[in-house]
Amino acid sequence: MRIVERVEDLREAVRGWRRQGESIGFVPTMGNLHAGHHALVDAAKRRCARVVASVFVNPTQFGPNEDYARYPRTPDDDEAGLRAHACDLLFRPGVAEMYPFGTAACVRVHVPGLTDELDGAARPGHFDGVATVVLRLFNMVQPDLAAFGAKDFQQLQVIRYLVRELSLPVEILPLPTQRDHDGLALSSRNRFLDAQARAAAPAIHATLQRMREAWRAGRAVPAIEADAVAALRGSGFAPDYAAIRRAADLAPPRADERRGLVALIAARIGGTRLIDNLEFEPEPPADAVERM
Ligand code: PAF
Repeated sequence: MRIVERVEDLREAVRGWRRQGESIGFVPTMGNLHAGHHALVDAAKRRCARVVASVFVNPTQFGPNEDYARYPRTPDDDEAGLRAHACDLLFRPGVAEMYPFGTAACVRVHVPGLTDELDGAARPGHFDGVATVVLRLFNMVQPDLAAFGAKDFQQLQVIRYLVRELSLPVEILPLPTQRDHDGLALSSRNRFLDAQARAAAPAIHATLQRMREAWRAGRAVPAIEADAVAALRGSGFAPDYAAIRRAADLAPPRADERRGLVALIAARIGGTRLIDNLEFEPEPPADAVERM
């Protein structure tokens, strides 16, 4: 695996592969890689001849009071994991390489609508930072395909919108959320959980499952959301939201809407903010039981 820090070197490697007719898959990350990231590398590798991963803790997607400074940085482990998963190139730029005129003077990308609510409301400017860095990374790597985990569901929809809106020539490959044995979604921030918070953390996934059950049983969305918030508080969380939305545009669903919905939760415990979601797959046809 080659490791490069400059765009120039990245481009040279990619150009060489392109000359040989090889396709390029891309896995953008902020490092502290876990099995979820490795699954993205594996998935990209199944589809493309070469895989580039980037590790860059992007300052523009963190708010002033967020955890940019303490975000876990584990370069040696990241490198070893990427090697073990046959990644071809690790792009590890510094802030000056990514933002040549500095972060205050950088060109920012704003995706309207989708970014107004949920994490967009809880973390103002966060998705502008994500869209800004992802567009830069796509320009730098110029991949055929880029893999993203579905745990960051709103981020995934923002990136899909960006790609479609700007006609970017890259296919977005979403991968299901990877979970621990007790349902907790894998996340770099899980390492901040102390024993008590870690023991409580699976309540997020359990609450999402109960939201889906209640929705299938015909309960009204506002009541389901209110119960979910109460359940999270009961488990020691301070929830930012527990919401049922249309997966495509994250708007609140109509009362009669039965397809394409997703439940999303963001909640803090012991100073750590966790997010997760659960898509409501289409219900089985009404006669499915009789036919089985
Ligand atoms: O999901 C992440 O790790 C980051 O938001 C991303 C997409 C790498 C952009 O910094």
